[in-house]
Amino acid sequence: MTQNEFRRRRRQLMRMMGKDSIAILPAAGIKQRNNDVTYPYRPDSDFYYLTGFEEPEAVAVLIPGRKQGEYILFCREKDEEKERWDGPIAGQEGAVAEYAADDSFPIADLNEILPRMLEQCERVYYAMGCDPELDKNMSSWISQIRGKARSGVHTPQEFIALDHYLHDMRLYKSRSEIAVMRKAAKVSAAAHKRLMRECKPGMKEYQLEAAFLHECSRRGARQQAYSPIVGGGNNATVLHYVDNTDKLESKDLVLIDAGCELDYYASDITRTFPVGGTFSKPQAQLYQLVLDAQLAAIRQVKPGNAYNAPHKAAVRTLTRGLVRLGLLKGQLARLIREEKYKRFFMHGTGHWLGMDVHDVGDYKIDGHWRQLEPGMVLTIEPGLYIPLGSKGVAKKWQGIGIRIEDDILVTKTGHEVLSADAPKTITDIEAIMKT
Ligand code: GLY
Ligand code: MN
Ligand code: MN
Repeated sequence: MTQNEFRRRRRQLMRMMGKDSIAILPAAGIKQRNNDVTYPYRPDSDFYYLTGFEEPEAVAVLIPGRKQGEYILFCREKDEEKERWDGPIAGQEGAVAEYAADDSFPIADLNEILPRMLEQCERVYYAMGCDPELDKNMSSWISQIRGKARSGVHTPQEFIALDHYLHDMRLYKSRSEIAVMRKAAKVSAAAHKRLMRECKPGMKEYQLEAAFLHECSRRGARQQAYSPIVGGGNNATVLHYVDNTDKLESKDLVLIDAGCELDYYASDITRTFPVGGTFSKPQAQLYQLVLDAQLAAIRQVKPGNAYNAPHKAAVRTLTRGLVRLGLLKGQLARLIREEKYKRFFMHGTGHWLGMDVHDVGDYKIDGHWRQLEPGMVLTIEPGLYIPLGSKGVAKKWQGIGIRIEDDILVTKTGHEVLSADAPKTITDIEAIMKT
């Protein structure tokens, strides 16, 4: 992402904020794993979206129309000794020269400088409840300012949730965001493809996980967007199975839900395939049904359609198929109305995708499903889950969990499947598993 893109985003946000306002965004904190070991640092998505700044201990401030500069970055001071251990620190000069801040101060001076900035503003855009430390400071700054009211100091009158504006911006992906997401999906698709080639009966689930991580890493995507799920047989019926420790059996399917993060953008792909390379008849029947539902849902992804149109299509196809296979009994419309399919398909058909795997952005506006628009990216991921021991269900269907998940960009004319490189038809999967 170029500095120009970050600048454009700040301008867009500041235009929405208007004069006499201030936005305050903290960087993510460092999380301690134990003693002096920390978790790998990942910038907060909102903060990074506006700044492109990857260091912790920073606060970004936007004040539209401020004469001395609209974008102020509080960050760490340069420290040669520390930099020898942990690598370069941008410091105040770097914040201005490399990150296009109009002005920069040491983070240690926040307490002294920020209240004076607050005094100049009517409206404060701030995401309360996300950073307890800054929340505490914020309320103490505001009460300090109130305390000075008699000496003519002005207190801001309005507090506005910053996340709402920002998240609406993040929902519409720019050309360069789409390029990164396309690349992330391609990396993950290549990794899924490799797993289809390498999977052999007797392997452990974590060996497939390891191959997935290796393939993403060697292609430059060294973080995952979430913990990979590799579930063989009945494990695939546990939606958030992440143990990945069991042996893969020839007779079973394996479900892999895994996606890398690239340059802070997520991919999220699920593929399900037979460990032994060939679908059994019941496996193929259920798999084809999920695939038909997924394709029906993807067809609904186009501008002007409601966000839940794909889900409705998936539910309809799945329910009809479940009746055909004898897993549900009754009249289609009624089964749908009474949500009987939920016994086997209990989650939504997708979610927004972006910097976060379950990305930000409202799904409804004024109580109505929002319309899909070009630039939005969402997943389409119907599934069927039939655990062992399911009462009243024929044995042949039990111990099968199937999900097929792709990443879909809404385009002007319809959609683009960003993850199309990962095979998903029965023919293509069986063919690639033979190679
Ligand atoms: N991998 C998380 C999800 O599919 O939503
Ligand atoms: Mn997903
Ligand atoms: Mn997923």
